[in-house]
Amino acid sequence: MKPTVRPNNPCFSSGPCAKRPGWSVSALETALVGRSHRSKGGRARLQEVLERSRALLGVPDGYQIGIVPASDTGAVEMALWSLLGPLGVDALAWESFGKGWVTDIVKQLKLPDVRVLSADYGKISDLSAVDDDRDVVFAWNGTTSGVRVPDENWIPEPHEGLFICDATSAVFAMEVPIAKLDVVTYSWQKVLGGEGQHGVLILSPRAVKRLENYQPSWPLPKIFRMTKGGKLDEGIFKGDTINTPSMLCVEDALDGLKWAEDIGGLPALIKRSEANLAAVAEWVARTPWVDFLAEDPEIRSSTSICLKIVDPWFAALPDEEQAKVAKQVASTLETEGVAYDIASYRDAPAGLRLWGGATVQRQDLEVLFAWIDWAYGQVKEG
Ligand SMILES: Cc1ncc(COP(=O)(O)O)c(C=O)c1O
Repeated sequence: MKPTVRPNNPCFSSGPCAKRPGWSVSALETALVGRSHRSKGGRARLQEVLERSRALLGVPDGYQIGIVPASDTGAVEMALWSLLGPLGVDALAWESFGKGWVTDIVKQLKLPDVRVLSADYGKISDLSAVDDDRDVVFAWNGTTSGVRVPDENWIPEPHEGLFICDATSAVFAMEVPIAKLDVVTYSWQKVLGGEGQHGVLILSPRAVKRLENYQPSWPLPKIFRMTKGGKLDEGIFKGDTINTPSMLCVEDALDGLKWAEDIGGLPALIKRSEANLAAVAEWVARTPWVDFLAEDPEIRSSTSICLKIVDPWFAALPDEEQAKVAKQVASTLETEGVAYDIASYRDAPAGLRLWGGATVQRQDLEVLFAWIDWAYGQVKEG
């Protein structure tokens, strides 16, 4: 039977993610548009984003936090290009984004001593094989496979190499132990539902030391450069962005941060995301045709929740047909206006992906499940 109740918000995309409950464009009315970001007011807004983010995430004293160009990709690239080289690298790749960073390290930077610790979609690299005498590059949460690292116990303290962590689909929804990491990156478009295009880069004192004492043998474009005369360009981490940010995006980021504070800060955000994962788990448990792509609950993401279809009818189809079925389920739901953008990532196994980050309401997911069941039945019956 076709359900009648619809989710209040049909946005379940894994990025850009749903806006916070109650958001409307009026949240941007106070944006400092048409003004210089280097004016007193502009700079104050940028600093406010940094201060609120630092407080919410518990960024330790002595760590730098700055707004950088080109979203999370920009932040990760800045780190890889500026820091890698002096040590061997362990790069962890268990889904598409991790694999992308490996391509950069091996094919673009052409570093000679790289160990790629890979794993299939739904699984995680062997974390016990990580050598902390080397630099380590990894994503805390693999957005395209729905797999996250289970804990922080595999990161020794102290360590010799730099732990460089792409945390874009993890921060504000999971405990990310920033004090144990040397580089943490994210963008605004994920867990707090902000706009794309700006990245955030967090650096440990050891990462700063590397920046000040190591000069890569390759050239660095202006938007990657974090030092001046061999010293950290501290302005970048005080709101003097390298180039011009969007003050609309800045206002929106502030709106997301204030909402997060109002609902109870990081613990409340994490609780909301875990509740979303729990709701999906309950539905999966009572639904024979669907299962988590990540079989091990310890590594299951609470943000990018990836599902596979385990119906024998589906399993018997050739790969291309499977991909078509999954896409049809997603497009049926989109046409109905009940769920947008929930087909699995283009390189990942055919299935569905539901965003369960903090801006998504558990009730909306619960209402959606009946729709997914219905849409799957429709597609199966042809
Ligand atoms: C783990 C991970 N890394 C990097 C990116 C790229 O982020 P952006 O488009 O914000 O640069 C994404 C986007 O989904 C991601 O999930």
